[in-house]
Amino acid sequence: MRLPDDRPPVSLRRFRPTDVPFVAAIVADALREHYDPSLYQSLSAEWPDGFLIAADPHDVPVGFLLGVSQVEREVRVLMFAVDRNHRTQGIGALLMSTFLERSRDRGYRRATLEVRVSNARAIRFYTRFRFSVIDLLRAYYSDGENGYQMARDLP
Ligand SMILES: CC(C)(COP(=O)(O)OP(=O)(O)OC[C@H]1O[C@@H](n2cnc3c(N)ncnc32)[C@H](O)[C@@H]1OP(=O)(O)O)[C@@H](O)C(=O)NCCC(=O)NCCS
Repeated sequence: MRLPDDRPPVSLRRFRPTDVPFVAAIVADALREHYDPSLYQSLSAEWPDGFLIAADPHDVPVGFLLGVSQVEREVRVLMFAVDRNHRTQGIGALLMSTFLERSRDRGYRRATLEVRVSNARAIRFYTRFRFSVIDLLRAYYSDGENGYQMARDLP
């Protein structure tokens, strides 16, 4: 059982441009997607505190959560992944809890995200963070897979 002070050996910080290759490698492996590097920089410029990097003791990114706000009073988790060799250490939970806390502090009232219907692990993770499925998104992903939209309030 995890003790309250049994924190994963990472520090959370804002995204920096030099993180792009590391973030892109995590995205390629974990999310099987490739984005233009400029996307990360432009999204981070919109809300620097919404792009959280979990860095190892050498300051190398091992996980990240990229949040945006496209609807008033609402945040959306656009990308979220932890390097496969660093999973199940609580890094994902640290990223998500910090993100939700910051969003609430900034006055956002609701958080949303999308997830592949086959991604049982992530759905279980989000359910534990009190997200629920609010919609089925047909052929949402580029390979034709359906997605779930999940949401929760930020009371
Ligand atoms: C979803 C994801 C980000 C979670 O990251 P993570 O760092 O592994 O998350 P945590 O370690 O906080 O929690 C994951 C699991 O490990 C368990 N865990 C956490 N710390 C642990 C520890 N010290 N020892 C054993 N288990 C632990 C948690 O209970 C949790 O269990 P679950 O699998 O039943 O949900 C990660 O699995 C991932 O990158 N997946 C691929 C990309 C993806 O699917 N992203 C979401 C797209 S919408």
